Amino acid sequence: DKGNYKHFMEKEIHEQPEVIQHTLAHYVDFANGTVRFKGKLPFDFASLNRISLSACGTAYYAGVVAKYWFEKLARIPVDMDVASEFRYREMPMQENGLALFISQSGETADTLASLRYCKQEGQHIASIVNVPESTIARESDVIFPTLAGAEIGVASTKAFTCQLSVLLALAIMAGRARGTISAGEEQAYVKALSELPKFIRQALKADNTIADLAHELSKVKHVLYLGRGTNFPLAMEGALKLKEISYIHAEGYAAGELKHGPIALIDETMPVVVIAPDDSYYDKTVSNMQEVAARDGRIILITDESGAKKNALEDSTTIVMPTVPDVIAPIVFALPVQMLAYYTANFMGTDVDQPRNLAKSVTVE
Ligand code: F6R
Repeated sequence: DKGNYKHFMEKEIHEQPEVIQHTLAHYVDFANGTVRFKGKLPFDFASLNRISLSACGTAYYAGVVAKYWFEKLARIPVDMDVASEFRYREMPMQENGLALFISQSGETADTLASLRYCKQEGQHIASIVNVPESTIARESDVIFPTLAGAEIGVASTKAFTCQLSVLLALAIMAGRARGTISAGEEQAYVKALSELPKFIRQALKADNTIADLAHELSKVKHVLYLGRGTNFPLAMEGALKLKEISYIHAEGYAAGELKHGPIALIDETMPVVVIAPDDSYYDKTVSNMQEVAARDGRIILITDESGAKKNALEDSTTIVMPTVPDVIAPIVFALPVQMLAYYTANFMGTDVDQPRNLAKSVTVE
């Protein structure tokens, strides 16, 4: 039931504050300011020598964000690949590695094949799934559920932010186990997590600004998304969402790669969406943005309040998110990229919930 919403995707975008809260309750003891897992872990984060992450599509981008988190907070090397490559790479795997799979449906053929490969290679098998009775869940040693509820829209939204929430909780857990974050840092991260639903509600309020851009975006053929650090996977996710439901060609690039090729494409006909909260990368990304502006590129800047104050570019539109702790920014900044795709597709009148040629669960390779 779509309730008062026009599409399931719109409804699912708006459900995110609640489903994230619900999911986090499974991993976080807010009263004590600590993370915890209610089940039993069949491996020890303290002694793991590597995490191998594998997934497809949007779930893969959640994994790319998590790679930054696990490496920074827990100092564990993370190997990350799309499942359709991972399964055929014949990667040598060492003992005491964790193989972690991310899948909304729990049925994606390539992700399942990667899981079976890792099992043969003697890895600990864990999965983040939204469907606990799925095949991937059944074949895992441990599952970390996302409690997003059924996701009907083919384009994944709430499952993605719930996957990110679980992954961040796990990275904090791993950091604590390995002694790479202090008790005080853990408390600060937990406080940030506790504020996520509030920040997501604030992010949703950018809907009018974003809907106003739909008319302009509906007329273009190509859109480039740029981001640095954890905003790089968000740029890829934003581009994927736009392609899927509006059929506009879009690419997500690491901002620093701009001058290694894509800058050749920049002119007034290709908008560039820049995802840049005012974090330690902000100035670098802004200088990439200026390179775009100098070539008459049209910029849509997704930033936070302080980033918006600093931006002096004339011909740009700014989408303003709340100022949030860096660690949770990728979860909050997922919202505007989802909304940008949604409102553009809605304006164009495409079948948002069931885009052409796509299936919700991809059980063939
Ligand atoms: C994107 C999308 C797909 C899925 C991918 C993996 O909006 O929905 O890219 O993310 O097919 O599906 P799951 O998570 O079910 O393994």
